[in-house]
Amino acid sequence: MDVRIFNSADELADAAAQLFIETINQKNDAVLGLATGASPVPTYKRLIEAYKAGKVSFKDVKTFNLDEYCDLPKNDRNSYYTFMHEQLFDHVDIKEENVNFLDGNAADWQAESKRYSEAMAKVGGIDIQLLGIGTNGHIGFNEPADEFTDESFKVTLTQSTIDSNQKYFGDTPMPRYALTMGIGSIMRAKKILLIATGESKAKAIAGMLSGEVTPRLPASVLNNHADAVIMLDKAAASII
Ligand code: F6R
Repeated sequence: MDVRIFNSADELADAAAQLFIETINQKNDAVLGLATGASPVPTYKRLIEAYKAGKVSFKDVKTFNLDEYCDLPKNDRNSYYTFMHEQLFDHVDIKEENVNFLDGNAADWQAESKRYSEAMAKVGGIDIQLLGIGTNGHIGFNEPADEFTDESFKVTLTQSTIDSNQKYFGDTPMPRYALTMGIGSIMRAKKILLIATGESKAKAIAGMLSGEVTPRLPASVLNNHADAVIMLDKAAASII
């Protein structure tokens, strides 16, 4: 793994955005795997600025998001569909038909998983996958488990994830289930960029970088990827 440590979250976001801009400028119809949550927001802000400055265009770019909550309307203010539109898509020239999400309300999640895998394969797979990391080491919503998963599946969110994300839902209880790309789908990306900032991620990062690959710490699987870049701020790297 190519580990890069930055003085600040701002410097990290500059570098993360730059990697995406380079990828798109080398391949105008690049396929991006995208993440939600707090970590990528500064990176998305810089991608919007770069688009507005004429430095990058999303005209032919295709995107696949990692995950989506179940039992939440697509346009709910807390859906990841809404999040991505507010944080990135509504501010750049991406075409809505090139934006892909798992449907958290699909009646048959297995059929939905198959549809998503086929859609990814049809466009030649993901060129660069952006990941955050949970305090418990999850990537996407692949929570610590006994085995690594492969294709997308329906997951029961752990209490740690609920504790981290309930704040976005205020007094309304947040969903207990989500559809997520599996570890296999994530690992098939040609390049992976995991970003982590803040002390709360330090333990998961130290575990991931210890070298042991275990589904108890899902992000540790990235040790087996041929082209994984890990960008950390000093706080996230504080105990490696
Ligand atoms: C989001 C996702 C999650 C987050 C992780 C970190 O699509 O798949 O794995 O990346 O929970 O979340 P933040 O960035 O909010 O700390």
